[in-house]
This record gives sequence, C-alpha cells and structure tokens, in this order.
Amino acid sequence: MTQNQLKQAVAQAALEEIRDDLHKDSIVGVGTGSTANFFIEELARLKMDIDGAVASSEATAERLRAHGIPVYDLNAAGILDVYVDGADEINARLQMIKGGGAALTREKIVAACSNKFICIADESKQVEVLGDFPLPVEVLPMARSHVGRELVKLGADPQWRENVKTDNGNWIIDCYNFLLDDPLKLETRINDIAGVVCNGIFAQRPADVLLLGCPEGVKRLIA
Ligand code: A5P
Repeated sequence: MTQNQLKQAVAQAALEEIRDDLHKDSIVGVGTGSTANFFIEELARLKMDIDGAVASSEATAERLRAHGIPVYDLNAAGILDVYVDGADEINARLQMIKGGGAALTREKIVAACSNKFICIADESKQVEVLGDFPLPVEVLPMARSHVGRELVKLGADPQWRENVKTDNGNWIIDCYNFLLDDPLKLETRINDIAGVVCNGIFAQRPADVLLLGCPEGVKRLIA
C-alpha cells in the first residue's frame, strides 16, 4: 500500500469511528495536513447529516467550504464532541509532535476544546521517543532571536523556517536534535519563554484514540 492509501484508510476509519454519534447539530473539529485532507473528503459525504465544522487553519477552512461544509468560529461552536487531525510523530502515550504544516497553535486550541481527539496517521508517524521530527515553535516575530537563544540553552538546534508566516501572523522556529524524553515538562518549559506563542508538543492534551494505518489494516490504539 502507498502512504496515501494508508492515509485514506485511516480517514475512512475515523469517519466510521464517529458516524454513529453524528447528528444534525454536530460540529466536527477538523485538523490540517495531508491526512486531515483525506478526512475532509470523507466528511463531505456526510455533510447533509451534520451542521458543520471548526477548522484548525485557513487552508482547512477553505477546503471545507469548497466541499460545501459550513465552517464555524470556535467561539460560536463551543465545546466540540470530536476533533480529527494528523500528527508528525506520535508515541505510545499518544503524545505528539505537530505543526509541520505551521498550524500548531490553532490545532492545539481546537484540541483543547474537544471532548475526544482522534489522531489519524500512517505507521511512519509512530515512534518510541518523540524528537526525530524537528519540533515547531510559533513565535512573535520580534522574539525570534531571543527564543532561539533560549532554545539552544534547552539543548535544541533551532532554525528559523524562513518565508513561512502562520495564520496568526507569526513565525516558526524548528528545533532539530531535540530529544523529547519528558514531553510534558518540556511543553510547559518552552511555553514559559517570553515570545513563544505555542509549541508543537501535544502532551498536556494527547490524543484519545490513534487510528494507525498499516499495510495489514488500520489499528485502533488508546493510551
Ligand atoms: C499541521 O500543522 C500539522 O500538525 C499536521 O497535522 C501534521 O503535520 C500532519 O500532517 P500530514 O498528515 O500531512 O503528515
């Protein structure tokens, strides 16, 4: 199976996972990235049976609207039953690195407002220890150098993702060679640096369910 076929399989599995709980008033949280895009295709098949969606990025909002799915502001939607999104890395505790697509801050906010977080990923995303994937950190532009220096003190090799501006008008620093053996602690520690808007460690709010695409089928994992 190709990687895209694995992504499609987990997107279908996510829809199956939530289908019975959907109703006319349902507003579904939708993530960002290539795997989430497959989920949008699936969700579009049920668009007449739901109210709409909350998007974790402008790109996802645009894609949802293109499929005829109404997009709601999170403040109007309130607490969501479910959020479906991909990940760049995920461990056995269902803690993740996210933000490869620069949408980490909105993703973290939507995840925080959702009763259930379903992560959909192909098997290449499963790791024992987080940190091979460079950890994204969203920063206010004026704080880029300061945050970079502080990240070096924490043991990272930070690199500015040039020419990328987030949906919030901020910049991204990617942290290379950063072993995240205590993700919970490091998530808080990085957030404490002045000028950091958000970092891509999802440990305080891990996923509740992982649907992992493997050649032998989709595995359903819980922490
Ligand atoms: C977006 O900022 C990310 O958090 C994505 O959810 C993550 O990069 C997964 O993307 P893919 O599904 O494209 O691998």
